[in-house]
Amino acid sequence: MQPTAISQLIRKRRSIFPKTYINQPIAKEIIEEVLENANWAPTHKMTEPWRFKVLVDDALIRLRDWQVDWYHKNTPPEKFSDKKLQKLQTKPLKAGCMIAICMQRNEKARIPEWEEIAAVACAVQNMWLTTTAYNIGAYWSSPGYIRDIGPFLNLKEGERCLGFFYMGHHETPEVPANRQSIKDKVEWL
Ligand SMILES: Cc1cc2nc3c(=O)[nH]c(=O)nc-3n(C[C@H](O)[C@H](O)[C@H](O)COP(=O)(O)O)c2cc1C
Repeated sequence: MQPTAISQLIRKRRSIFPKTYINQPIAKEIIEEVLENANWAPTHKMTEPWRFKVLVDDALIRLRDWQVDWYHKNTPPEKFSDKKLQKLQTKPLKAGCMIAICMQRNEKARIPEWEEIAAVACAVQNMWLTTTAYNIGAYWSSPGYIRDIGPFLNLKEGERCLGFFYMGHHETPEVPANRQSIKDKVEWL
């Protein structure tokens, strides 16, 4: 592979949000490829802490219902927003697939939690680059309610949800990138 090819792919990756997704299912083979590539992330002591829950079709409706119910039960009247509620009611159904991004602690390995979260984030980057290569829109969503989503996702002991990876075929024109210069973030010692 040409080094320029990986640079192009990395810089082409963008957060593409559900409002621009089109109503077209994502092929199962592509979802499996995304997950397979996640599995090749680096991992300290080979704990491979990434865990994923794939939501398509009916599961997206069940998540929609769960998050709407959560919002009703957990939002004080003065903070309640009809706009926010409407977003919660529509967003999951715009997705072709949502993948819950989870991390499984391994007490025996005795490595800090941050390293396990870092490994999961590396796995997500692999997923994101894969969706970019397939021209499928994706983004990592980390709503506050994920702290309560354990029972819905059937999380095991020591397993924690870090957000959702939304995926959808889309019609977004090229999204402009926005980064401050790397020069301001690097010191050569
Ligand atoms: C750990 C993590 C959590 C994120 N959570 C959210 C989120 O909850 N809502 C959101 O709109 N974007 C979320 N994002 C996406 C960022 O907003 C996005 O990556 C950033 O704006 C840069 O845009 P780009 O991905 O197109 O380069 C998250 C990104 C990361 C890495």
